[in-house]
Amino acid sequence: MQIKAIRPDFVAEITEIDLRLPLSDAQVAEIDKVMDHFAVVVFPAQALNDDQEFAFANRLGPLEETRAVVDVHKQRLAYNQMNDISNLDVDGSILALDDRRRMFNLGNLLWHSDSSFKATPAKYSMLHARIIPPEDGNTEFADMRAAWDRLPEKTKHQIETLVCDHSLIYSRAQLGFDAFTEQELINYTPVPQRLVRRHPGSHRKSIYLASHIGTVHGMPRPEAMVLIRDLIEHATAREFVYSHKWKQFDLVMWDNRCTMHRARPYDDKNHKRDMRRMTLTDCAPTLEQPA
Ligand code: OGA
Ligand code: MN
Repeated sequence: MQIKAIRPDFVAEITEIDLRLPLSDAQVAEIDKVMDHFAVVVFPAQALNDDQEFAFANRLGPLEETRAVVDVHKQRLAYNQMNDISNLDVDGSILALDDRRRMFNLGNLLWHSDSSFKATPAKYSMLHARIIPPEDGNTEFADMRAAWDRLPEKTKHQIETLVCDHSLIYSRAQLGFDAFTEQELINYTPVPQRLVRRHPGSHRKSIYLASHIGTVHGMPRPEAMVLIRDLIEHATAREFVYSHKWKQFDLVMWDNRCTMHRARPYDDKNHKRDMRRMTLTDCAPTLEQPA
């Protein structure tokens, strides 16, 4: 495989590999090595179907077994482990404007790290573009290791040992969405995560931020949320951000332990965008991982 840096220490492109074919142990090891150094890897022109995307992800590590969405019974995709990142209904038509799933999915436009609201959060995400709109709908990625490196020493000291609670309820509340069912409220009970992590593959520290954060342990909520807003603002300054302009059949893989990402808007009322995401699970809750 050919590896080309797109952004030093952050984004790379890998070509001359066919992800439809079973990966060798050496290929898996090499992809992990690239992921440890960079945090976002683009594999252009991979015309995968669901079986091939599933097999590829499954080869890289243990998968997240559940989807975290509303109306979980209304599913277009066959694999339970595949997340439907689209504006499409079960029959393939564009979701109605007032559909609860559309409202909920708009949360992807907020900066986040996948599944930080799960006790054991996500490791890598792999997002594959099947249908893209004629314009817009980029995905942006922010480098949380670089953002940590550039924090003032005083702030590093202040936040280093903090623990935050994450929930989908908190991120959706920022958009005025609160139409959760009783069961969803139970499923999305907040979970604690360290605010500062050490990335095992690079030994670099990173800030573990997401719009899913709703409290910081030991702080009054307004004080906590002002701090989190400031950190997100710092960490998403343009110097830390790569904006991916999709081409059909791009597969983009990112490490949720040291990045945030967000979707950008597009004309979702008139154009289809069909993306499918496989997600690897991390090894343990962040508080059970070495600081
Ligand atoms: C995701 C996600 C952003 C996008 O797949 O986890 O946040 O641009 N996607 O669709
Ligand atoms: Mn996401």
